[in-house]
Amino acid sequence: MSPINRQVLTLDEFTIQSLRQFPQATGELSTLLRDIGLASKRVNVEVNKAGLVDILGDTGTMNVQGEEVKKLDVFANNQFTGVLQRGVSCAGIASEEMDEFVSFDDDVSRNSKYICMYDPLDGSGNIDVNVSIGTIFGIYRRVSDRGTPVTREDFLQKGKHQVAAGYIVYGSSTMLVYATRRGVNGFTLDPSIGEFCLSHPDLKCPDAGNIYSVNHGNYYQYEEGVKKYITLCQNKNKTNGGPYTQRYIGSMVSDVHRNLIKGGIFMYPGTIEKPKGKLRLLYECNPFAFIVEAAGGKATNGVQPILEIQPTELHQRTPFFIGSKTMMEEMESCLASERTEEKIKA
Ligand code: AHG
Repeated sequence: MSPINRQVLTLDEFTIQSLRQFPQATGELSTLLRDIGLASKRVNVEVNKAGLVDILGDTGTMNVQGEEVKKLDVFANNQFTGVLQRGVSCAGIASEEMDEFVSFDDDVSRNSKYICMYDPLDGSGNIDVNVSIGTIFGIYRRVSDRGTPVTREDFLQKGKHQVAAGYIVYGSSTMLVYATRRGVNGFTLDPSIGEFCLSHPDLKCPDAGNIYSVNHGNYYQYEEGVKKYITLCQNKNKTNGGPYTQRYIGSMVSDVHRNLIKGGIFMYPGTIEKPKGKLRLLYECNPFAFIVEAAGGKATNGVQPILEIQPTELHQRTPFFIGSKTMMEEMESCLASERTEEKIKA
């Protein structure tokens, strides 16, 4: 087809087209995705001009995890929360930036089917130095009755119960990637029309890859199996065709996005000081696990699949390993071999 006749689908057109295949669907999920798209466009505008307006730097406060809150974190959190509260599809939210979940307790929202959890701006540490950052979200069907306020149980669902999950990467171009059980699709923001346009249809995570992403600064604090896998990544051997390339931005959205497209593994293991690692199960790990598994990859905490973990707290952390299937299997066999040896010694 000549470029002039090529039809580029916008996010709205794409979700409506998908909806037409399910005449019984109510359209609530499409509306929710549209709301998220809108909030992300507003955040994108501020991220792009961050150096020009007084929106860089810290607010001078700490979040519930004891981390410094950046002004853009607050802006992004307000945008996502506000858009979803004013919408018609979301009964409540939980955000990495807020201590407690929020029930949208008006007549319309109370009757909505979905709840949403998000990290409004992941990689805040990179904001002030102009490195890509992102938003991560997961959407669940509520388990409480419609018409009543949402409850903690709505938010403490296993990741496998997500209906959809996605992320936005504010990078050299801005992309929104979202997954449902039917697959993963990527949309690039076309600034000339202000719309996300389908650019990466039916994304698949390559089975194999040659990129590994981990914070090497923590190397001596990792368990033996993780060290063994890192050594394997750094060496040439018959099975993996290594050495692999090491890439670590410190902005998980960008790291996992790159590995999803090119093939690779991202790891944030537990350390001696922080056995549960740094990343949050509900706002960061579950959505990415859902997306990468829908694209054919794997995600685990080193013991069980991320999507099978029963959450007990809104802000709980977990070790996180995610990526291409064969690399994940290599990593899991390193963990298993060292754990067995440790058990035998003990
Ligand atoms: P934050 O939003 O507080 O900047 O955290 C970012 C997350 C994640 O995106 C990234 O991969 C990881 O923390 C980096 O942590 P380390 O600096 O400890 O490697």
